[in-house]
Amino acid sequence: MPALGVNIDHVATIRQARRTIEPDPVWAAALAELAGADGITIHLREDRRHIQDRDLRVLKETVQVKLNLEMAASDEITDIALDVLPGQATLVPEKREEVTTEGGLDVIANSDRVAACVERLKNAGIEVSLFIDPDPQQIAASRKAGVGAVELHTGRYADASTSEEQDHEFEVLTEAGRTAREEGLLLHMGHGLTYRNVSRVAAIPGVCEFNIGHSIVSRAVLVGFEQAVREMKALVSGAPP
Ligand code: PXP
Repeated sequence: MPALGVNIDHVATIRQARRTIEPDPVWAAALAELAGADGITIHLREDRRHIQDRDLRVLKETVQVKLNLEMAASDEITDIALDVLPGQATLVPEKREEVTTEGGLDVIANSDRVAACVERLKNAGIEVSLFIDPDPQQIAASRKAGVGAVELHTGRYADASTSEEQDHEFEVLTEAGRTAREEGLLLHMGHGLTYRNVSRVAAIPGVCEFNIGHSIVSRAVLVGFEQAVREMKALVSGAPP
């Protein structure tokens, strides 16, 4: 059964809108855990637009499930990761002007930098995953970089505007998932997944982790955090939509 990692960045985004102390992502993480989340995911961005260093440090102390740190392969953030030691790090591309992570990490073009960062994290006992497009060449490059897992970017599937386009992107994800498993990599997926589109990808064989944020926090605003996580957990576990 795939695990659900709940991305709580948006809770911090609301707090940062007023530069105050609420809502605290640490509280959201506790509620997500109570509702069955298998992991808590946060992205410590270089511009600190939502999650702050304090959040990472407190969550490291309080989260009892997997703490997954999304991060750029930069020296500054890698040093912080090595100091705090989250259970898992997911390397993502990062551009200052983007609204959210756009596209996967180009592991081929950045092979030396990625491999050096992966080695430092792995030597500290951190599991490392690379957030990549569902592309066989990026999957092969990820294996060469020494990671144990890849997170396939589901954004194109999620953003498809016609059912034909969605079918095509679903096939791309299914095929890339097969390739990743043949390469011996654990298979994660995420980005843009919602209560409407997640069930189909949850049925792809071998997916062991989903990381979902925007849709859960959006629903939580209306129905409450625990209920929102419980409903998504049921869907990634294969319950009918
Ligand atoms: N996985 C990665 C690597 C991401 O960068 C994000 C967005 O922070 C997510 C998953 C979650 O995406 P969404 O918020 O669209 O569910």
